Amino acid sequence: MSIIEQVNRRRTFAIISHPDAGKTTMTEKLLLFGNIIREAGTVKGKKTGKFATSDWMEIEKKRGISVTSSVMSFPYKDFYVNILDTPGHDDFSEDTYRTLTAVDSVVMIIDSTKGVEPQTIKLFKVCRMRGIPIFTFINKLDREGKDPLELLSEIEEVLGIESYPMNWPVGMGKSFQGLIDRHNDQFIRFLGDEREQIESLDELRKSGDTAIEAVFDELELLDEAGNEFSEERVMKGELTPVFFGSALANFGIRTFFDTFISYASPPKPRKTDKGLVNPDSETFTGYIFKIQANMNPAHRDRIAFLRICSGKFTRGMSVRLTRTNKTINLNQTQQFLASSRETVDEAYAGDIIGIYDPNMYQIGDTLTAGKEEIHYQELPQFPPELFRKVRVKNVMKSKQFKKGIEQLVQEGALQLFRQESNDDIILGAVGQLQFEVFEYRMKAEYNVEVEFTSLGERIPRWLSEVPKDLRLFDSRSLLAKDRFGRFVVLFENDFTYRYFKEKNKDIELIDLFEEN
Ligand code: G4P
Repeated sequence: MSIIEQVNRRRTFAIISHPDAGKTTMTEKLLLFGNIIREAGTVKGKKTGKFATSDWMEIEKKRGISVTSSVMSFPYKDFYVNILDTPGHDDFSEDTYRTLTAVDSVVMIIDSTKGVEPQTIKLFKVCRMRGIPIFTFINKLDREGKDPLELLSEIEEVLGIESYPMNWPVGMGKSFQGLIDRHNDQFIRFLGDEREQIESLDELRKSGDTAIEAVFDELELLDEAGNEFSEERVMKGELTPVFFGSALANFGIRTFFDTFISYASPPKPRKTDKGLVNPDSETFTGYIFKIQANMNPAHRDRIAFLRICSGKFTRGMSVRLTRTNKTINLNQTQQFLASSRETVDEAYAGDIIGIYDPNMYQIGDTLTAGKEEIHYQELPQFPPELFRKVRVKNVMKSKQFKKGIEQLVQEGALQLFRQESNDDIILGAVGQLQFEVFEYRMKAEYNVEVEFTSLGERIPRWLSEVPKDLRLFDSRSLLAKDRFGRFVVLFENDFTYRYFKEKNKDIELIDLFEEN
């Protein structure tokens, strides 16, 4: 197959959702389709601990977070699928956000009994910023959930994206009969026990069932007043195709996946400082979006995750790290299957490979096999929400403490701030686990014990200029500088933020997240 053909069959995506919406269950079904696993229950590493093989960082074992499941790749029909995991729950972090820069499409799972939930909103915003196609799967139709029309309007209103239902449920919970597949003009009858049966819509219409007549009326309304399907708008992330179904009952999943995979975006041209790079270009290029440290503590093993943006990768090839201009032979590379890491010999734009990292790479680094020095667009930093002051327990270790902080911050594990009034070190994180990992690594890698004082959840707002009156700030609106020397105010809560804004209309407060 030519490079173009290989690239065009790539489907690289992530599943985003609020915890418990059914991401793991859905992933498992997709892996079953891909013959990656043979039985259900294999992916549930987080509960059964199946993935906790001995060589991972202890803290991960404790939490049961699997590293090899960060990326799962398999051929499916004519396609080659890469599913990237977006850690949720307590392991939610900047990595979760950054992963979304490495995908070409996203599946958003919504629990039909809950509707649009907070973590979904946060992840959705990042996808929206990138304008990538978003496909919605409304899960748990086997349970009594919210009204389908209500769910659609919630998606449109809360997330601000237009929706187009690809199928429509007949009944719900105990009275769930199946799905009218609008896209393929057929009815998929729910028979239970992971079984389904295809019927014609005419047959269904003739059944005389009043519930079914009501559903056809609803569909007519959607046809007349709803959005029109437009592939172009789906590709731009302006319109989300919506599928109903049940991941657990394995109902509507196959049709969803087949339709999704055919419409999902193949790798697209990507921006660099020298202009756009086409994925089917002959030259191999890519960037690192995540670094996983200490996968094997005995070796201080680090793996850098690289998204290939163009060309073909072959093991042993020589590439340049443009930040340092160093030439590297890519010998130790891995691709990831559900339960094992395998050496990868060949990969194409769209794929993710893991590269052995002898402490050389940084998040955002560009690798290229070409002559031209290009840099992929800098990865955005995401405003942290949790803040803690950090001190070294034993002052004799101040030097290692400083070194550890510098390196870990550089890696993008946490964000560093200094309180303006006393120079105290403040660390900011997107998720709780980042602090635990920091504490663990300071001890394990730098032999330093640290002490935290929590500042709780804070709302960071950057100042456009140097504040004139320092008396305006106090512990509720803590003035600090970020590591680039920019002033930032850490507001205790929404109330203090609004109050401050009201009182100081002349001070411009910037939300970096909105700006990106
Ligand atoms: P997550 O990865 O998004 O956190 O969700 P996960 O798949 O772990 O699913 C969360 C819970 O919802 C699980 O139940 C799962 O079985 C259930 N679930 C997923 N899809 C469906 C569905 O279509 N219908 C129904 N009724 N339930 C669904 P649990 O009791 O928390 O876990 P388990 O003990 O079943 O593993």
